[in-house]
Amino acid sequence: MAAYSFGWCEVGGAPAVASGGKGVRQALAVLGAEAAGAPERAGVAAAVAVELVHTFSLLHDDIMDGDGDRRGRPTVWKAYGTGPAVLAGDALFALAVETLAAEPGGAGAVRTLSVALGDLVRGQADDLLFADRPWTGPERVRPDEYRAVAEHKTGALLGCAAALGAVLGGAGPETVAALDRAGRHLGVAFQIVDDVLGIWGDPRVTGKPVHGDLREGKKTFPVLVALGSPMGGRIAGLLESGDAPETAAALIEEAGGRSAALAEARRHIAAVETALDDAPSTARAADELRSLLGYLVRRDV
Ligand code: IPE
Ligand code: IPE
Ligand code: MG
Ligand code: MG
Repeated sequence: MAAYSFGWCEVGGAPAVASGGKGVRQALAVLGAEAAGAPERAGVAAAVAVELVHTFSLLHDDIMDGDGDRRGRPTVWKAYGTGPAVLAGDALFALAVETLAAEPGGAGAVRTLSVALGDLVRGQADDLLFADRPWTGPERVRPDEYRAVAEHKTGALLGCAAALGAVLGGAGPETVAALDRAGRHLGVAFQIVDDVLGIWGDPRVTGKPVHGDLREGKKTFPVLVALGSPMGGRIAGLLESGDAPETAAALIEEAGGRSAALAEARRHIAAVETALDDAPSTARAADELRSLLGYLVRRDV
């Protein structure tokens, strides 16, 4: 199941070459370690650990969200069953801890990863609670609540990815904190772009279901912005009924939800750049980190 989720094999075990994901967190781990002057093996161990935790979180997330497609293939729970998919996620988590614990200075890194995972769990829990909140009225989800959830469910692991190699390499607390802050803002930007792609992305490119978030009633950033516009009442009615997700998507765009979301993502990217200015870095790592930021906002997958 793990090999299947990494794109290495088919369901029955026959070798395959399928997408194993973009590898954003592992790239961030290697670059964060390099920026902090940590040894190469610290960056590699950090990259392995965060990618294992990421895959674990996706296996469980797809069960929670009821999603049937990921990376252009059936999700692990669809292909193998829910119980096995939960266990495969648990096994990947155990492997991540084992990887870090085996490194010199591993105890601090295990602690950093555990704190990030605690935040991720909290974000996922709040994301689930959002589902029961109304679209309009005093109980509706506000954009600042959304930002907190995005920072927890996605930003915490990106912050951990950016900082983990530095932790393993024995960097000082200020460097670690600056890298973590950069990763967290990047995570919020990344999640907002994920929301945009979840509504307007091409499923053949994203590998995820079309309009999945709209059908599941997810309180995503573009939707929350659109609900606050004069067209909010009409959009809420459509989302409530779950009918015509194409029409809802068109109205959300007309109400400015898409452009406001991308503007918000760019604001968080600017905050990433400010945080990176506080972290000492080699010119090469800084250049590569900046080109990664540009890609993450422009991406279509
Ligand atoms: C998807 O992450 C889950 C989110 C936190 C938005 P990615 O978009 O990085 O997933 P892969 O690894 O590239 O498939
Ligand atoms: C995923 O969030 C966050 C984690 C897996 C921790 P989403 O549910 O928004 O991500 P996708 O769209 O399924 O990849
Ligand atoms: Mg999901
Ligand atoms: Mg989810």
